[in-house]
Amino acid sequence: KQSETPSALTILFGATGDLAKRKLYPSLYRLYRKGHLSSGFAVIGTARREWDNDIFREHVKKSVMESTAVQEQIDEFISHFYYLPHDVSDSDSYVALRTLANDLDNKYALGGNRLFYLAMAPEFFGTIADHLKEDGLTDTEGFGRLVIEKPFGHDLPSAQELNEQIRRSFDEKDIYRIDHYLGKEMVQNIEAIRFANALFEPLWNNRYISNIQITSSETLGVEERGGYYETSGALKDMVQNHMLQMVSLLAMEPPISLQDDDIRREKVRAFRSMRPLTLETVNDYFVRGQYGPGEDGMLGYREELNVNPESNTETYVAGKVMFDNFRWAGVPFYIRTGKRMPLKSTKIVVQFKDIPMNLYYRPDDQEMEPNLLVIHIQPEEGITLHLNAKRAGHQLQTTPVKLSYANSGVDVMNTPEAYEKLIHDAMRGDSTNFTHWDEVALSWSFVDVIAEAWRNEKAAFPNYPAGTKGPKASDELLEKDGFFWWPMNMLDVNICN
Ligand code: BG6
Repeated sequence: KQSETPSALTILFGATGDLAKRKLYPSLYRLYRKGHLSSGFAVIGTARREWDNDIFREHVKKSVMESTAVQEQIDEFISHFYYLPHDVSDSDSYVALRTLANDLDNKYALGGNRLFYLAMAPEFFGTIADHLKEDGLTDTEGFGRLVIEKPFGHDLPSAQELNEQIRRSFDEKDIYRIDHYLGKEMVQNIEAIRFANALFEPLWNNRYISNIQITSSETLGVEERGGYYETSGALKDMVQNHMLQMVSLLAMEPPISLQDDDIRREKVRAFRSMRPLTLETVNDYFVRGQYGPGEDGMLGYREELNVNPESNTETYVAGKVMFDNFRWAGVPFYIRTGKRMPLKSTKIVVQFKDIPMNLYYRPDDQEMEPNLLVIHIQPEEGITLHLNAKRAGHQLQTTPVKLSYANSGVDVMNTPEAYEKLIHDAMRGDSTNFTHWDEVALSWSFVDVIAEAWRNEKAAFPNYPAGTKGPKASDELLEKDGFFWWPMNMLDVNICN
Protein backbone atom coordinates (compact mmCIF):
# COMPACT_ATOMS: atom_id res chain seq x y z
CA LYS A 1 0.00 0.00 0.00
CA GLN A 2 2.90 2.35 0.64
CA SER A 3 4.26 1.87 -2.87
CA GLU A 4 6.28 4.59 -4.55
CA THR A 5 4.55 6.89 -6.99
CA PRO A 6 5.56 5.77 -10.46
CA SER A 7 6.47 8.31 -13.12
CA ALA A 8 3.39 9.15 -15.12
CA LEU A 9 1.83 11.53 -17.58
CA THR A 10 -1.49 13.03 -16.53
CA ILE A 11 -3.74 14.02 -19.40
CA LEU A 12 -6.38 16.29 -18.05
CA PHE A 13 -9.60 16.94 -19.95
CA GLY A 14 -11.35 20.07 -18.70
CA ALA A 15 -8.07 21.82 -17.86
CA THR A 16 -9.57 25.31 -17.96
CA GLY A 17 -12.47 24.40 -15.68
CA ASP A 18 -13.33 25.17 -12.12
CA LEU A 19 -12.52 21.81 -10.58
CA ALA A 20 -9.06 21.74 -12.11
CA LYS A 21 -8.37 25.21 -10.82
CA ARG A 22 -9.73 24.79 -7.31
CA LYS A 23 -8.67 21.24 -6.55
CA LEU A 24 -6.46 19.50 -9.07
CA TYR A 25 -3.60 21.94 -9.59
CA PRO A 26 -3.23 22.74 -5.88
CA SER A 27 -3.31 19.00 -5.11
CA LEU A 28 -0.67 18.20 -7.71
CA TYR A 29 1.46 20.97 -6.32
CA ARG A 30 1.20 19.66 -2.79
CA LEU A 31 2.15 16.18 -3.99
CA TYR A 32 5.08 17.72 -5.83
CA ARG A 33 6.30 19.67 -2.80
CA LYS A 34 6.16 16.63 -0.59
CA GLY A 35 8.28 14.78 -3.09
CA HIS A 36 5.53 12.38 -4.19
CA LEU A 37 5.91 13.31 -7.83
CA SER A 38 9.29 12.22 -9.02
CA SER A 39 11.03 14.32 -11.65
CA GLY A 40 9.17 11.96 -13.96
CA PHE A 41 5.89 13.72 -14.15
CA ALA A 42 4.19 15.80 -16.77
CA VAL A 43 0.69 17.11 -17.27
CA ILE A 44 -1.06 17.85 -20.53
CA GLY A 45 -4.07 20.07 -20.08
CA THR A 46 -6.71 20.06 -22.77
CA ALA A 47 -9.90 22.01 -23.32
CA ARG A 48 -11.65 23.90 -26.09
CA ARG A 49 -9.93 27.22 -25.43
CA GLU A 50 -7.06 28.22 -27.68
CA TRP A 51 -4.49 28.53 -24.92
CA ASP A 52 -0.78 27.79 -25.22
CA ASN A 53 1.75 26.45 -22.72
CA ASP A 54 2.54 29.90 -21.32
CA ILE A 55 -1.05 30.90 -20.68
CA PHE A 56 -1.75 27.50 -19.17
CA ARG A 57 1.29 27.62 -16.89
CA GLU A 58 0.30 31.06 -15.65
CA HIS A 59 -3.20 29.74 -14.97
CA VAL A 60 -1.83 26.79 -13.00
CA LYS A 61 0.54 29.04 -11.09
CA LYS A 62 -2.25 31.41 -10.17
CA SER A 63 -4.51 28.65 -8.94
CA VAL A 64 -1.72 27.23 -6.79
CA MET A 65 -0.85 30.66 -5.41
CA GLU A 66 -4.46 31.29 -4.48
CA SER A 67 -4.64 28.12 -2.47
CA THR A 68 -1.35 27.78 -0.63
CA ALA A 69 0.91 30.09 1.32
CA VAL A 70 4.12 28.28 0.41
CA GLN A 71 5.24 28.68 -3.17
CA GLU A 72 8.67 27.14 -3.34
CA GLN A 73 9.86 25.81 -6.67
CA ILE A 74 6.69 26.88 -8.35
CA ASP A 75 8.36 27.79 -11.62
CA GLU A 76 10.00 24.39 -11.83
CA PHE A 77 6.64 22.80 -11.03
CA ILE A 78 4.73 24.60 -13.77
CA SER A 79 7.42 23.80 -16.34
CA HIS A 80 5.98 20.25 -16.34
CA PHE A 81 2.62 21.53 -17.66
CA TYR A 82 1.70 21.53 -21.36
CA TYR A 83 -1.44 22.60 -23.12
CA LEU A 84 -3.27 21.49 -26.24
CA PRO A 85 -6.58 22.92 -27.47
CA HIS A 86 -8.90 20.01 -27.93
CA ASP A 87 -12.16 19.04 -29.54
CA VAL A 88 -13.43 15.91 -27.80
CA SER A 89 -15.10 14.45 -30.87
CA ASP A 90 -12.38 15.17 -33.42
CA SER A 91 -9.84 12.44 -34.19
CA ASP A 92 -7.18 14.95 -35.25
CA SER A 93 -7.19 16.38 -31.75
CA TYR A 94 -6.35 12.96 -30.34
CA VAL A 95 -3.61 12.39 -32.88
CA ALA A 96 -1.99 15.67 -31.81
CA LEU A 97 -2.43 14.63 -28.20
CA ARG A 98 -0.81 11.28 -28.85
CA THR A 99 2.20 12.91 -30.50
CA LEU A 100 2.73 15.26 -27.58
CA ALA A 101 2.18 12.45 -25.07
CA ASN A 102 4.80 10.29 -26.79
CA ASP A 103 7.27 13.18 -26.83
CA LEU A 104 6.77 13.81 -23.12
CA ASP A 105 7.09 10.10 -22.43
CA ASN A 106 10.58 10.26 -23.89
CA LYS A 107 11.53 13.59 -22.45
CA TYR A 108 10.62 12.68 -18.85
CA ALA A 109 11.11 8.90 -19.08
CA LEU A 110 7.53 8.20 -18.03
CA GLY A 111 7.48 4.56 -19.06
CA GLY A 112 4.21 4.99 -20.95
CA ASN A 113 2.23 5.39 -17.70
CA ARG A 114 -0.85 7.51 -18.25
CA LEU A 115 -3.62 8.87 -16.12
CA PHE A 116 -6.55 10.16 -18.16
CA TYR A 117 -8.41 12.53 -15.89
CA LEU A 118 -11.87 13.59 -17.10
CA ALA A 119 -12.78 16.72 -15.16
CA MET A 120 -15.78 17.54 -17.32
CA ALA A 121 -19.42 16.76 -18.03
CA PRO A 122 -20.15 13.01 -18.16
CA GLU A 123 -21.87 13.18 -21.55
CA PHE A 124 -18.38 13.26 -23.08
CA PHE A 125 -16.91 10.35 -21.10
CA GLY A 126 -17.91 7.71 -23.67
CA THR A 127 -16.64 9.65 -26.69
CA ILE A 128 -13.34 10.45 -25.02
CA ALA A 129 -12.79 6.87 -23.84
CA ASP A 130 -13.52 5.56 -27.36
CA HIS A 131 -11.07 7.98 -28.96
CA LEU A 132 -8.35 7.31 -26.41
CA LYS A 133 -8.41 3.71 -27.47
CA GLU A 134 -9.06 4.12 -31.21
CA ASP A 135 -6.47 6.84 -31.62
CA GLY A 136 -3.82 4.84 -29.80
CA LEU A 137 -3.38 6.84 -26.62
CA THR A 138 -3.85 3.80 -24.41
CA ASP A 139 -1.50 1.76 -26.52
CA THR A 140 1.65 2.07 -24.41
CA GLU A 141 3.83 -0.19 -22.31
CA GLY A 142 2.80 1.42 -19.05
CA PHE A 143 -0.56 1.69 -17.31
CA GLY A 144 -3.54 3.59 -18.68
CA ARG A 145 -6.00 4.61 -15.98
CA LEU A 146 -9.19 6.56 -16.35
CA VAL A 147 -10.15 8.91 -13.52
CA ILE A 148 -13.68 10.24 -13.67
CA GLU A 149 -15.77 12.62 -11.67
CA LYS A 150 -19.36 12.30 -10.59
CA PRO A 151 -22.15 12.31 -11.51
CA PHE A 152 -21.87 8.77 -12.79
CA GLY A 153 -25.22 8.73 -14.56
CA HIS A 154 -28.48 10.09 -13.21
CA ASP A 155 -30.14 6.73 -12.57
CA LEU A 156 -29.27 3.06 -12.95
CA PRO A 157 -29.97 2.75 -16.71
CA SER A 158 -27.95 5.86 -17.58
CA ALA A 159 -25.11 4.75 -15.29
CA GLN A 160 -25.16 1.35 -16.98
CA GLU A 161 -24.99 2.94 -20.39
CA LEU A 162 -22.11 5.15 -19.34
CA ASN A 163 -20.32 2.21 -17.83
CA GLU A 164 -20.69 0.17 -21.00
CA GLN A 165 -19.27 3.06 -23.00
CA ILE A 166 -16.13 3.42 -20.93
CA ARG A 167 -15.70 -0.32 -20.50
CA ARG A 168 -15.24 -0.57 -24.28
CA SER A 169 -11.83 0.99 -23.75
CA PHE A 170 -10.92 0.44 -20.10
CA ASP A 171 -11.04 -2.54 -17.74
CA GLU A 172 -12.87 -2.07 -14.46
CA LYS A 173 -9.52 -2.31 -12.62
CA ASP A 174 -8.30 0.75 -14.56
CA ILE A 175 -11.36 2.90 -13.87
CA TYR A 176 -11.09 5.22 -10.87
CA ARG A 177 -14.47 6.77 -10.06
CA ILE A 178 -13.96 9.65 -7.71
CA ASP A 179 -16.13 10.16 -4.66
CA HIS A 180 -14.21 12.90 -2.94
CA TYR A 181 -15.71 11.99 0.45
CA LEU A 182 -13.64 8.81 0.33
CA GLY A 183 -10.52 10.97 0.25
CA LYS A 184 -11.46 12.82 3.44
CA GLU A 185 -9.17 12.05 6.34
CA MET A 186 -11.92 11.20 8.82
CA VAL A 187 -13.97 9.16 6.35
CA GLN A 188 -10.87 7.02 5.91
CA ASN A 189 -10.62 6.96 9.67
CA ILE A 190 -13.94 5.09 9.98
CA GLU A 191 -12.13 1.87 9.16
CA ALA A 192 -9.25 2.62 11.53
CA ILE A 193 -11.63 3.42 14.38
CA ARG A 194 -13.49 0.19 13.78
CA PHE A 195 -10.69 -2.18 12.91
CA ALA A 196 -7.69 -0.83 14.83
CA ASN A 197 -9.38 -0.79 18.23
CA ALA A 198 -10.38 -3.69 20.43
CA LEU A 199 -12.94 -1.43 22.04
CA PHE A 200 -15.51 -0.80 19.36
CA GLU A 201 -15.85 -3.79 17.10
CA PRO A 202 -17.38 -6.07 19.79
CA LEU A 203 -20.04 -3.39 20.34
CA TRP A 204 -20.52 -2.58 16.67
CA ASN A 205 -23.87 -4.31 16.20
CA ASN A 206 -27.54 -4.31 17.05
CA ARG A 207 -26.96 -5.53 20.61
CA TYR A 208 -25.21 -2.35 21.66
CA ILE A 209 -25.94 0.33 19.08
CA SER A 210 -29.38 1.89 18.97
CA ASN A 211 -28.97 4.06 15.88
CA ILE A 212 -26.41 5.84 13.74
CA GLN A 213 -26.84 9.39 12.43
CA ILE A 214 -24.92 10.92 9.56
CA THR A 215 -25.36 14.59 8.85
CA SER A 216 -23.77 16.57 6.06
CA SER A 217 -25.03 20.12 6.08
CA GLU A 218 -23.98 23.04 3.96
CA THR A 219 -24.55 26.76 4.39
CA LEU A 220 -24.25 27.53 0.70
CA GLY A 221 -27.19 27.40 -1.64
CA VAL A 222 -26.85 26.18 -5.21
CA GLU A 223 -24.85 29.25 -6.28
CA GLU A 224 -24.23 29.16 -10.07
CA ARG A 225 -25.01 25.45 -10.33
CA GLY A 226 -28.79 25.83 -10.64
CA GLY A 227 -28.84 24.26 -14.10
CA TYR A 228 -27.09 21.08 -12.95
CA TYR A 229 -28.84 20.96 -9.61
CA GLU A 230 -32.28 21.10 -11.21
CA THR A 231 -31.54 17.76 -12.86
CA SER A 232 -30.04 16.33 -9.71
CA GLY A 233 -31.33 17.49 -6.33
CA ALA A 234 -29.87 16.48 -2.98
CA LEU A 235 -30.81 12.82 -3.44
CA LYS A 236 -28.65 12.30 -6.51
CA ASP A 237 -26.08 14.95 -5.67
CA MET A 238 -25.24 13.75 -2.14
CA VAL A 239 -27.18 10.65 -1.05
CA GLN A 240 -26.48 8.26 -3.93
CA ASN A 241 -22.76 8.77 -3.53
CA HIS A 242 -21.24 10.46 -0.46
CA MET A 243 -23.91 9.59 2.11
CA LEU A 244 -24.35 5.95 1.08
CA GLN A 245 -20.60 5.50 0.86
CA MET A 246 -20.28 6.59 4.49
CA VAL A 247 -23.16 4.29 5.44
CA SER A 248 -21.47 1.33 3.77
CA LEU A 249 -18.16 1.96 5.57
CA LEU A 250 -19.98 2.04 8.89
CA ALA A 251 -22.07 -1.03 8.16
CA MET A 252 -19.66 -3.36 6.37
CA GLU A 253 -18.19 -6.49 7.91
CA PRO A 254 -14.46 -6.46 8.73
CA PRO A 255 -12.48 -7.07 5.54
CA ILE A 256 -9.87 -9.83 5.52
CA SER A 257 -7.22 -7.27 4.55
CA LEU A 258 -7.01 -3.62 3.58
CA GLN A 259 -6.49 -4.50 -0.07
CA ASP A 260 -8.90 -2.68 -2.38
CA ASP A 261 -10.67 -5.86 -3.50
CA ASP A 262 -11.21 -7.09 0.03
CA ILE A 263 -12.71 -3.82 1.19
CA ARG A 264 -14.86 -3.48 -1.88
CA ARG A 265 -16.24 -6.99 -1.40
CA GLU A 266 -17.46 -6.08 2.08
CA LYS A 267 -18.88 -2.74 0.99
CA VAL A 268 -20.80 -4.43 -1.79
CA ARG A 269 -22.20 -6.96 0.68
CA ALA A 270 -23.32 -4.08 2.87
CA PHE A 271 -25.05 -2.39 -0.07
CA ARG A 272 -26.73 -5.66 -0.94
CA SER A 273 -28.17 -6.02 2.52
CA MET A 274 -29.74 -2.55 2.56
CA ARG A 275 -33.50 -2.96 2.76
CA PRO A 276 -34.84 -1.96 -0.66
CA LEU A 277 -37.70 0.52 -0.69
CA THR A 278 -40.85 0.33 -2.78
CA LEU A 279 -42.96 3.14 -4.19
CA GLU A 280 -45.39 2.51 -1.34
CA THR A 281 -42.77 2.58 1.46
CA VAL A 282 -40.55 5.46 0.31
CA ASN A 283 -42.37 8.10 2.33
CA ASP A 284 -42.03 6.06 5.52
CA TYR A 285 -38.27 6.11 5.15
CA PHE A 286 -37.33 9.29 3.32
CA VAL A 287 -38.41 12.93 3.48
CA ARG A 288 -37.39 15.86 1.35
CA GLY A 289 -37.18 19.61 1.64
CA GLN A 290 -36.54 22.71 -0.39
CA TYR A 291 -35.38 26.02 1.03
CA GLY A 292 -37.51 29.12 0.68
CA PRO A 293 -36.37 32.71 1.25
CA GLY A 294 -34.53 33.27 4.52
CA GLU A 295 -33.36 36.13 6.68
CA ASP A 296 -31.00 38.83 5.44
CA GLY A 297 -32.36 38.61 1.92
CA MET A 298 -31.31 35.00 1.35
CA LEU A 299 -33.03 33.81 -1.79
CA GLY A 300 -35.30 30.83 -1.87
CA TYR A 301 -34.22 27.99 -4.14
CA ARG A 302 -36.93 28.79 -6.68
CA GLU A 303 -35.52 32.30 -7.08
CA GLU A 304 -31.96 31.13 -7.78
CA LEU A 305 -30.31 31.47 -11.17
CA ASN A 306 -31.37 28.84 -13.74
CA VAL A 307 -33.97 27.33 -11.44
CA ASN A 308 -37.57 26.77 -12.45
CA PRO A 309 -39.76 29.11 -10.33
CA GLU A 310 -42.02 26.13 -9.63
CA SER A 311 -39.22 23.67 -9.16
CA ASN A 312 -39.94 20.40 -7.41
CA THR A 313 -36.24 19.72 -6.82
CA GLU A 314 -35.23 18.85 -3.27
CA THR A 315 -32.36 20.71 -1.60
CA TYR A 316 -32.67 18.61 1.55
CA VAL A 317 -33.08 14.90 2.16
CA ALA A 318 -33.39 12.95 5.38
CA GLY A 319 -33.80 9.22 5.38
CA LYS A 320 -33.63 5.99 7.27
CA VAL A 321 -31.59 3.12 5.87
CA MET A 322 -32.18 -0.32 7.35
CA PHE A 323 -29.98 -3.36 6.89
CA ASP A 324 -31.57 -6.75 6.78
CA ASN A 325 -28.64 -8.72 8.13
CA PHE A 326 -27.61 -10.30 11.44
CA ARG A 327 -25.40 -7.45 12.54
CA TRP A 328 -27.75 -4.58 11.94
CA ALA A 329 -31.31 -5.91 12.04
CA GLY A 330 -33.41 -3.26 13.77
CA VAL A 331 -30.77 -0.48 13.84
CA PRO A 332 -31.71 2.59 11.82
CA PHE A 333 -28.98 4.48 9.98
CA TYR A 334 -30.35 7.99 9.66
CA ILE A 335 -28.87 10.29 7.08
CA ARG A 336 -29.58 13.93 6.34
CA THR A 337 -28.05 16.43 4.00
CA GLY A 338 -29.10 19.85 2.88
CA LYS A 339 -28.14 23.16 1.40
CA ARG A 340 -28.67 26.48 3.19
CA MET A 341 -28.47 25.00 6.65
CA PRO A 342 -27.28 27.01 9.66
CA LEU A 343 -23.76 25.51 9.51
CA LYS A 344 -21.34 23.63 7.32
CA SER A 345 -20.65 20.35 9.04
CA THR A 346 -20.32 16.64 8.43
CA LYS A 347 -20.57 14.37 11.43
CA ILE A 348 -21.37 10.78 12.27
CA VAL A 349 -22.99 10.00 15.61
CA VAL A 350 -23.06 6.40 16.79
CA GLN A 351 -25.57 6.18 19.61
CA PHE A 352 -25.20 3.24 21.98
CA LYS A 353 -28.13 1.61 23.71
CA ASP A 354 -29.14 2.72 27.18
CA ILE A 355 -27.71 0.87 30.17
CA PRO A 356 -30.11 -1.81 31.46
CA MET A 357 -30.98 0.15 34.61
CA ASN A 358 -29.91 3.47 35.99
CA LEU A 359 -28.47 3.47 39.52
CA TYR A 360 -27.59 7.13 39.48
CA TYR A 361 -29.61 10.25 39.34
CA ARG A 362 -29.02 13.51 37.63
CA PRO A 363 -29.92 16.99 38.81
CA ASP A 364 -33.53 17.94 38.09
CA ASP A 365 -34.34 14.37 37.07
CA GLN A 366 -32.58 14.77 33.76
CA GLU A 367 -32.18 11.50 31.97
CA MET A 368 -28.76 9.95 31.81
CA GLU A 369 -27.30 10.49 28.37
CA PRO A 370 -26.46 7.51 26.23
CA ASN A 371 -22.88 6.91 25.18
CA LEU A 372 -22.11 8.45 21.83
CA LEU A 373 -19.18 8.05 19.52
CA VAL A 374 -18.96 11.13 17.32
CA ILE A 375 -16.78 11.17 14.24
CA HIS A 376 -16.14 14.74 13.15
CA ILE A 377 -15.46 14.76 9.44
CA GLN A 378 -15.51 18.48 8.74
CA PRO A 379 -14.82 21.30 9.25
CA GLU A 380 -12.96 20.07 12.34
CA GLU A 381 -11.56 16.57 12.27
CA GLY A 382 -11.63 14.33 15.30
CA ILE A 383 -13.39 11.80 17.45
CA THR A 384 -15.35 12.34 20.62
CA LEU A 385 -16.60 9.70 23.00
CA HIS A 386 -19.45 10.80 25.24
CA LEU A 387 -19.42 9.03 28.58
CA ASN A 388 -21.01 9.50 31.97
CA ALA A 389 -18.84 10.04 35.04
CA LYS A 390 -19.51 10.71 38.65
CA ARG A 391 -19.96 14.33 39.50
CA ALA A 392 -17.31 15.46 41.99
CA GLY A 393 -18.70 15.70 45.52
CA HIS A 394 -20.61 13.58 47.93
CA GLN A 395 -23.76 12.87 45.98
CA LEU A 396 -24.10 9.98 43.58
CA GLN A 397 -24.84 12.05 40.57
CA THR A 398 -23.48 11.59 37.09
CA THR A 399 -22.38 14.17 34.63
CA PRO A 400 -21.69 13.77 30.92
CA VAL A 401 -18.02 13.95 29.95
CA LYS A 402 -16.33 13.89 26.57
CA LEU A 403 -13.08 12.27 25.59
CA SER A 404 -11.85 14.00 22.50
CA TYR A 405 -9.20 13.53 19.95
CA ALA A 406 -8.92 16.50 17.61
CA ASN A 407 -6.93 15.99 14.49
CA SER A 408 -5.95 19.64 14.42
CA GLY A 409 -2.92 21.82 14.83
CA VAL A 410 -1.32 20.07 11.90
CA ASP A 411 0.36 22.17 9.24
CA VAL A 412 -2.28 22.53 6.57
CA MET A 413 0.28 21.65 3.95
CA ASN A 414 0.73 18.32 5.66
CA THR A 415 -2.95 17.54 5.93
CA PRO A 416 -3.67 16.07 2.58
CA GLU A 417 -6.87 17.28 1.07
CA ALA A 418 -9.22 14.70 -0.31
CA TYR A 419 -8.19 15.27 -3.91
CA GLU A 420 -4.53 15.15 -3.15
CA LYS A 421 -4.87 11.72 -1.59
CA LEU A 422 -7.08 10.42 -4.34
CA ILE A 423 -4.82 11.58 -7.17
CA HIS A 424 -1.88 10.05 -5.36
CA ASP A 425 -3.78 6.77 -4.93
CA ALA A 426 -4.72 6.68 -8.62
CA MET A 427 -1.10 7.23 -9.60
CA ARG A 428 -0.01 4.41 -7.31
CA GLY A 429 -2.77 2.12 -8.52
CA ASP A 430 -4.61 1.87 -5.21
CA SER A 431 -8.33 1.88 -5.92
CA THR A 432 -9.52 1.37 -2.32
CA ASN A 433 -10.99 4.83 -2.04
CA PHE A 434 -12.76 4.90 -5.38
CA THR A 435 -16.21 3.55 -6.12
CA HIS A 436 -16.39 0.30 -7.94
CA TRP A 437 -19.10 -0.24 -10.52
CA ASP A 438 -20.96 -2.73 -8.29
CA GLU A 439 -21.31 -0.09 -5.58
CA VAL A 440 -22.49 2.51 -8.08
CA ALA A 441 -25.10 0.14 -9.49
CA LEU A 442 -26.42 -0.92 -6.08
CA SER A 443 -26.64 2.62 -4.79
CA TRP A 444 -28.49 3.77 -7.90
CA SER A 445 -31.02 0.98 -7.62
CA PHE A 446 -31.65 1.99 -3.99
CA VAL A 447 -32.01 5.67 -4.88
CA ASP A 448 -34.00 5.23 -8.11
CA VAL A 449 -37.10 4.09 -6.25
CA ILE A 450 -37.03 7.17 -4.05
CA ALA A 451 -36.54 9.43 -7.06
CA GLU A 452 -39.43 7.77 -8.87
CA ALA A 453 -41.79 8.06 -5.90
CA TRP A 454 -40.94 11.75 -5.59
CA ARG A 455 -41.30 12.39 -9.30
CA ASN A 456 -44.84 11.07 -9.14
CA GLU A 457 -45.86 13.26 -6.25
CA LYS A 458 -45.68 17.02 -6.12
CA ALA A 459 -44.04 18.26 -2.93
CA ALA A 460 -45.31 21.08 -0.73
CA PHE A 461 -42.22 23.21 -1.39
CA PRO A 462 -40.62 25.34 -0.10
CA ASN A 463 -40.79 23.84 3.38
CA TYR A 464 -37.85 25.31 5.26
CA PRO A 465 -36.51 28.87 5.26
CA ALA A 466 -32.93 29.29 4.02
CA GLY A 467 -30.52 29.26 6.96
CA THR A 468 -32.56 26.87 9.12
CA LYS A 469 -32.19 23.21 9.93
CA GLY A 470 -34.60 21.67 7.46
CA PRO A 471 -38.24 20.64 7.35
CA LYS A 472 -40.23 19.43 10.35
CA ALA A 473 -40.77 16.08 8.67
CA SER A 474 -37.09 15.33 9.21
CA ASP A 475 -37.48 15.52 13.00
CA GLU A 476 -40.67 13.49 12.82
CA LEU A 477 -38.86 10.73 10.95
CA LEU A 478 -36.79 10.03 14.07
CA GLU A 479 -39.46 10.89 16.59
CA LYS A 480 -41.68 8.10 15.36
CA ASP A 481 -38.86 5.67 16.21
CA GLY A 482 -38.31 7.28 19.64
CA PHE A 483 -35.11 9.11 18.62
CA PHE A 484 -34.06 12.65 17.80
CA TRP A 485 -31.23 14.21 15.83
CA TRP A 486 -28.36 15.05 18.12
CA PRO A 487 -27.97 18.83 17.99
CA MET A 488 -24.79 19.91 16.26
CA ASN A 489 -23.77 22.39 18.92
CA MET A 490 -23.51 19.75 21.66
CA LEU A 491 -21.25 17.65 19.51
CA ASP A 492 -18.31 20.02 19.23
CA VAL A 493 -15.01 18.23 19.23
CA ASN A 494 -13.06 20.30 21.72
CA ILE A 495 -15.47 21.03 24.49
CA CYS A 496 -14.97 18.94 27.59
CA ASN A 497 -17.19 19.46 30.58
C1 BG6 B 1 -20.41 17.62 -4.23
C2 BG6 B 1 -21.78 18.12 -4.55
O1 BG6 B 1 -20.26 16.29 -4.65
O2 BG6 B 1 -20.20 17.68 -2.82
C3 BG6 B 1 -21.96 19.53 -4.04
O3 BG6 B 1 -21.99 18.08 -5.95
C4 BG6 B 1 -21.62 19.61 -2.58
O4 BG6 B 1 -23.29 19.98 -4.26
C5 BG6 B 1 -20.27 18.99 -2.30
O5 BG6 B 1 -21.61 20.97 -2.22
C6 BG6 B 1 -20.01 18.90 -0.81
O6 BG6 B 1 -18.68 18.55 -0.60
P1 BG6 B 1 -17.91 19.01 0.69
O7 BG6 B 1 -16.58 18.35 0.58
O8 BG6 B 1 -17.83 20.50 0.68
O9 BG6 B 1 -18.72 18.52 1.85
